[in-house]
Order: sequence, then structure tokens, then C-alpha cells
Amino acid sequence: MTDANTQPIVKAVNIKKTFKDVIALAGVDLEIMPSEYTALLGPNGAGKTTLVEIIEGIQKPDSGEITLFGKHWSGNKDELYKQIGLSFQETKFEDKLTAAETLKMFASFYGLDNTRVEEILNIVNLQEKRKSYVVNLSGGQRQKLALGIALLNNPKLLILDEPTTGLDPTARREIWSILHELKKTHGTSMILTTHYMEEAENLCEKIVIIDKGKVLAKGTLEQLIAESKTSEIVQFKVLDKSKFPDFSKFSDLREIQWEDSTNIVTMNVDNTSSFLPKMVSYLNNAGCKISELRCRYVTLDDLFIRMTGRKLTD
Ligand SMILES: Nc1ncnc2c1ncn2[C@@H]1O[C@H](COP(=O)(O)OP(=O)(O)OP(=O)(O)O)[C@@H](O)[C@H]1O
Ligand SMILES: [Mg+2]
Repeated sequence: MTDANTQPIVKAVNIKKTFKDVIALAGVDLEIMPSEYTALLGPNGAGKTTLVEIIEGIQKPDSGEITLFGKHWSGNKDELYKQIGLSFQETKFEDKLTAAETLKMFASFYGLDNTRVEEILNIVNLQEKRKSYVVNLSGGQRQKLALGIALLNNPKLLILDEPTTGLDPTARREIWSILHELKKTHGTSMILTTHYMEEAENLCEKIVIIDKGKVLAKGTLEQLIAESKTSEIVQFKVLDKSKFPDFSKFSDLREIQWEDSTNIVTMNVDNTSSFLPKMVSYLNNAGCKISELRCRYVTLDDLFIRMTGRKLTD
């Protein structure tokens, strides 16, 4: 007997998609388990929207196989759309409708009544704005409305394309807390695309790093950091580059990176507390002055730079 909780609710195998000469997806595999929140994290043009639109049945892959709840899109569209909730990277609303009227219109597509509209206004915390025209809503309020629409049919799987891009930290946190609550109360699963590593870390137990149509790494934050074989970072600014000594004899220094424009050095080390005193006296003996010394744990951004040579936010 198979246990429904051990079967992925989304399974994408070797998905490829090309637009003329642009390879948007170069063979991507993805599995989403029940009640799992997964972040697709990657820079502009990574292929995130293309991938989620293929999962949503909006675009067709050139090759590869997609199943949702064990079913292919072909022949199962109506049934699958009942189980998923979507929000797009940019949502166009009807400006002449109020927030509540917008929800009512979408609710009517699902045959849902006003009770559900009221529930949604509460869930996304838009009761006070129910009579505001959509054109007068702030960016964060619009994003909450888009999330409310995605939640109307009480979906088992939410697919959100950059739900917090452009929002200030407070508005972003409000959306995070709605999503945390949803998982706790409904066991919802989610695929979310984002440029923000904090969003991936805060919301999602699984992170898929994607760049140029390829999955570079996937796993929990702890797994990604463990795979990178280093967890601690020492960073400082070098005031006189000509006096910077050779660090090659330091066996506990795993990697060293220079940022030429700022003279900031980033060192990946095994153990900061044993490395730091040796490093400071070595620099002192060489007469090399430094400033802005910082020690911290590795972040997703560090891992991304290591994998691609670029910052996630570039
Ligand atoms: N309809 C299209 N026609 C031509 N090229 C496309 C089309 N859609 C996407 N692309 C290209 O495919 C690549 C992946 O685009 P996609 O929109 O999936 O990236 P993304 O990760 O969502 O980026 P962003 O973070 O900017 O939203 C890009 O190089 C993009 O220019
Ligand atoms: Mg996109």
C-alpha cells in the first residue's frame, strides 16, 4: 500500500524549454512533497517563471514530464485547477472594482459565495480596505489581494511567482506570516519563486537554487551549507593591498576571495575562533592594516557567489 504522504504532489522530470536561441530550462527536475514549502531562488532570467508556468499548465515544455497529484495536465485540467492556487509575477486587476468586489468576481468563477470572500478578507488582513478601489491599494495590499485570490478555492498547492518583490520589509513580513499560518492550519504545500535569500530561508524548508535554466543545488538550508563544506566567514577591508601577505600555508583557510572594487577580502574558514588570532597576528607582522573586520555564518548569498561567481541580487 502506498502512503499518500510519501508521494510527491508535484513531480517534474527533465524539463526543457527553449525560446528561439534562449535556453530557459536545460533539464530541470523538481519534486514537491505534501505540506512542503519550496523556494525557487535565482537571479533575473534564471528560468523561474518559465518553470512555474510549465508546472501550472500555462506553458508546455519542449520535453520532459510533469505530474501534479500523480496526474498529467492533459485530460485533467479541470480537476487540477481545483487543487491549485496561483499568483503571477505581475497581476493586472480591474481598477474600477474594490478589493471585496475583485474577490467576489474571482469567487464566482469557483461557484463560491460571500462567506468565502469574508474569510479571505480576514486571512489576508484586508478587511479595512474592502471598499477601496484596487487602483488605490498600496503595492503590499495588492500583493495581499493577489494572495487572497490564490487562496479562494482552498488549494492544496500554492504556486506564487515573486509574491513580495518590490515590497518593503514590513509588508514582506506580513505576507510571510500569512503563509506560515496557512501551513500550520491547512498543511498547504507551496512553490514560491524569489530573488530574496531571506525569504527562502524564512519561509521554505526546501531551497532550489536555479541559474541559467539549471538547478545548481537543492536541499534544506542546513544541507546546502553542509555540502559547501564550510560554515564560517571572516571578512575585512584591506587598507594597503601591497602589504597583503600570502595565506597559502593556512590549511584551515578553505577559500579566499577578493573584491577588487572595494578591497574587501572574504575568507571561508573551518573554525573562526582558532583562525582569527593567527590571522590578526600574521597581518600585523606583515604590517598590513585592515578595517571593518566581521565574522559570520555562511549565507545563501555566499553559496550562490561560490557557485556562479555572481551575487544573487546582481
Ligand atoms: N516568451 C518568451 N519569449 C522569449 N524568451 C523568453 C520568454 N519567456 C522567457 N524567456 C527567456 O527565458 C529566460 C528565463 O526567463 P524567466 O522569465 O523564466 O526567468 P525568471 O527566473 O523568472 O526571471 P525574473 O527573476 O526576472 O522574473 C530569460 O532569458 C527570458 O528572457
Ligand atoms: Mg520571473
